[in-house]
This record gives sequence, C-alpha cells and structure tokens, in this order.
Amino acid sequence: MSEVISERTVEVPWLMDTIRSIGPKELLDVGYAGGWYLEDILDMGISCYGLDSDVGRISGGTLKVDDKKKAEWTKIAERMITCIADITKYPEDGQDDLSFPVVMCISTIEHIVPCGYQNDSALDMESDITAANNMKKLVADGGSFMLTFPCGVEHFFYNRCRKTPLDHPKFIEGNYDLMVYGKERIDRLVGDWKVVDKKFWTRQSGVASSFEECDEDVALSKVPIANIPVQSVCAIRMMAP
Ligand SMILES: C[S@@+](CC[C@H](N)C(=O)[O-])C[C@H]1O[C@@H](n2cnc3c(N)ncnc32)[C@H](O)[C@@H]1O
Repeated sequence: MSEVISERTVEVPWLMDTIRSIGPKELLDVGYAGGWYLEDILDMGISCYGLDSDVGRISGGTLKVDDKKKAEWTKIAERMITCIADITKYPEDGQDDLSFPVVMCISTIEHIVPCGYQNDSALDMESDITAANNMKKLVADGGSFMLTFPCGVEHFFYNRCRKTPLDHPKFIEGNYDLMVYGKERIDRLVGDWKVVDKKFWTRQSGVASSFEECDEDVALSKVPIANIPVQSVCAIRMMAP
C-alpha cells in the first residue's frame, strides 16, 4: 500500500500563515511534544510555551521514531518553557492567572478521547470539551485559540491494544484512541466563541491520497475507516465572545 499522506501537510501551512498574520510575541502549544513546526515558530522569535501530559513519549519512547528524530525534538523542547500537565485538569482553581495571546492545539484534541489517552481510564464523554474550555481560560483578552483535528461523520475509535476491549455503543476498534468530529461536536468545541477562520480539507482521490481544501459539507460527509481514520481535517481560529 502507498504511504498515507499526513494531515500535517495542510494543518502546518495553515498554522504558520495564521501565526504570521497574528504576529504574537509568545504562544502556548497544548500537546506540543513532537511538534516539529515549533522550530520554525521559535525561529520567528516567538517565545513558545508547551504543555503536554506525556513528554516521555519523546525522550523515553512510547513513540516509535528513531533516535535522531527524538534528539531533534528534544532540542526544540529545550528552547521552550514546558510543563507536564493534563489539560482536562489544568488550570486548576487559582492557577488561571497565566494567559497567552495565542493558545493552539494541533492534532491533539482528538486524542483527548473519552476513554483516556493510551490508558484504560474510565469513560468521560466530556473530556475533549473540558480540555477545550480549559484552553480557552488560558487565552489572553483579545487573543486567539487555534485547533486542528480530524472531522467527518462522527466516530470514536479506541486503540485495539487496550488491556480491556472497550464495550461502549459509540466506540469501535482502531489503531489509536481518536475521535473524528462531526458538526455537532465541532460546535461544542467552539461554544459561544467567535469563529474568525474555519477551513476544511479532504482526501481527494482514494482514502490515502493528499488533502485538498473543500466545503464543510463535503468534509463532514466523509466516513472514517479504522486504518486511515483521518479522511477530512478542520482548522479553526476563534476568539472570546
Ligand atoms: C498526536 S500528538 C500531537 C503532537 C503535536 N501537536 C503535533 O502536531 O505533532 C498528541 C499530543 O497530545 C498529548 N496529550 C494527549 N492528551 C493530553 C492531555 N489530556 N493533556 C495534555 N496533553 C495531552 C500527547 O502526549 C501528545 O504529545
């Protein structure tokens, strides 16, 4: 089978264009670990803060990448101010005085799945919505919140490597713990925030092909499949109401 083209091919150019147009002095990337786009952002002179619940996936190794890649990612993280935290629980009460002109979450919210990220924790069907609401608390007045994630006909996949198979009417077996967002759940991520930019892309010819920009209806009509769940991608920039 030919190589599967990654959604980063459309997410990262959108991200870089948006950051260039905003021109922030600093930003927070939630789920930053392994985000190689951060090197270019740091090179633009922007101070980058990173929050991630599992930085060990870079240095220690739950990620299957070679040592060279891990060294590169570690070097990027050394130029950042980082913290280990679970965004479904952060900021706790009294910790919300931190704020950033840009908070971004790239290809990450879909992994903050109700069944927990790479663990066997209990179902919390609101985990991603809680995470989005917590990220919004970290956006400074007049700042932007940017999200990218897979979309289509709503699906919940659980990693078939879970110790206990998930017995839930909404979840089907897949390669990762991952959600594919339909319209209703996208609207819940946005809540009462004002959408400044919203883009959709979909695979053009065949399930593993490259992505091209499309209308929302086309993107959201695509049915994900277990081996290649990301058939369409959504990117949103929003601001507080
Ligand atoms: C698929 S990676 C994306 C990394 C990077 N943003 C990129 O685009 O390459 C998802 C990241 O989100 C982190 N993550 C998952 N659940 C999280 C949570 N509840 N709180 C904070 N980080 C989380 C993971 O540890 C992982 O580093």
